[in-house]
Amino acid sequence: MKFLITAGPTREPIDPVRYISNRSSGKMGYAIAQAALEAGHEVVLVSGPVALNAPAGAQLVRVTTADEMYDAVHAHLAGVDIAVLCAAVADFKPASCAPRKIKKRDGVPTIKLVPTRDILASLGALRPKKFLLAGFAAETGDLEKNAREKLEKKQCDAVIANDVLAPGLGFESDENALTIFLPDQSSRVLPRASKHDLANALVKILCGMQQKS
Ligand code: C5P
Repeated sequence: MKFLITAGPTREPIDPVRYISNRSSGKMGYAIAQAALEAGHEVVLVSGPVALNAPAGAQLVRVTTADEMYDAVHAHLAGVDIAVLCAAVADFKPASCAPRKIKKRDGVPTIKLVPTRDILASLGALRPKKFLLAGFAAETGDLEKNAREKLEKKQCDAVIANDVLAPGLGFESDENALTIFLPDQSSRVLPRASKHDLANALVKILCGMQQKS
């Protein structure tokens, strides 16, 4: 099968030296890419800036901004069977990028933010949708309520939620704990484990879902 995976943060420039970003190491997305490759699948990995080596065999597409990630994802949809959007895409970007470094002596700037395009929602809205669509949800509370809202609003086949405030888990950690929420109101818990083991389990589950659909 062919996987399209997004990973890492995006950066939205304020001026040539400053940007707005999200906390994300990219480890979960890269682990899923690795697991899919090890299981013999084809992988396109659309990655924001991270300090990780691409898994051997993946087609790596490097991007920086949310707009670039949106365009790269849509440009690589041909033949995709399973899309896993794991990237921590910035929800807002500066309305414009100053051409030169904003000087401190000019005072504290007011930065107007505008929303970025939601990549996951844009894939969920595609008709006909030829692939299984799974999105991640990094939450700091109300895990189930927020994940189920995303599942419906973004028209996904699965939302994989993790509590990023859980001690020792999430963000830069090598471990995580996931809950997969499905449209039939069921859910599946993948308890605390290495991101590597979780990624293997996730790839198996998603392939099973895709084969059934
Ligand atoms: O709504 P929230 O940003 O928490 O949703 C998270 C999910 O949506 C993740 O799968 C993330 O990759 C995706 N997302 C996206 N494009 C955005 C914002 C989020 O694909 N602009």
